[in-house]
Amino acid sequence: MRRNIVAGNWKMNKTFEEADELLFNIAEPLQNLDLDKTEVILCPPVLYAEMFTDIAIENNFSVGAQNCSNHSLGAYTGEISAAMLKSMDIEYCLVGHSERRKFFNEDSKMLAEKVDQLLENEISPIFCCGEVLEDRESNNHFDIVGKQIFEGIFHLTAEELDNVVVAYEPVWAIGTGKTASPDQAQEMHAFIRNLIAKKYNQEVADDMTILYGGSCNAKNAKELFALKDVDGGLIGGASLVAEDFLKIVQSF
Ligand code: 13P
Repeated sequence: MRRNIVAGNWKMNKTFEEADELLFNIAEPLQNLDLDKTEVILCPPVLYAEMFTDIAIENNFSVGAQNCSNHSLGAYTGEISAAMLKSMDIEYCLVGHSERRKFFNEDSKMLAEKVDQLLENEISPIFCCGEVLEDRESNNHFDIVGKQIFEGIFHLTAEELDNVVVAYEPVWAIGTGKTASPDQAQEMHAFIRNLIAKKYNQEVADDMTILYGGSCNAKNAKELFALKDVDGGLIGGASLVAEDFLKIVQSF
């Protein structure tokens, strides 16, 4: 179902005490905001999940993980399964973030398996895609993003796809302060929606929530979220500053 979403990806930041403080500074004001039209998702380090899920409902947010295993259970030291996430009341999980593709060599096959694990456990994948700078400069960005989408989620039925959120995050915009221009963001989001319409149908495409990520902040969120095919944001750096994140949440 298409809706406005602002998701904060805390990445590998904050000790327990720091996370507790930031959570408090975000969650308390959230209680008093009129968020009928917007869903807020916090994706902290999963170790702290319970502190978040304990207060999520009364504070108007959902909890997401940043990663999960592509295996269901067993001898995979250090891994966390989708079933474990579900048992901790986690509702969303990032899949295919460029940092995982790059630093942990996650390939399309593995990402598609993660998507399947999550859906089997009734967790919504937030499927990330995006091109590196060379791909954009050589005009390959549509091919790259199209391939990522095709290999990551196009094996799903339309019914399954309804539980997926897509996040377009141009890698050159992540953590760099270089946001995609409104034209660049709208063009890629429309391209992704069109791919879905071609593979499934227009109704399925119109129902897809597509988020933008990459140096989205309190200053540019309003302009980005006003774009026809942008349904919200996946926020990194600015989600670690309560005041900024709360401003972004109110940018629709
Ligand atoms: P920044 O907002 O810090 O650019 O990070 C975006 C991101 O990677 C969110 O997943």
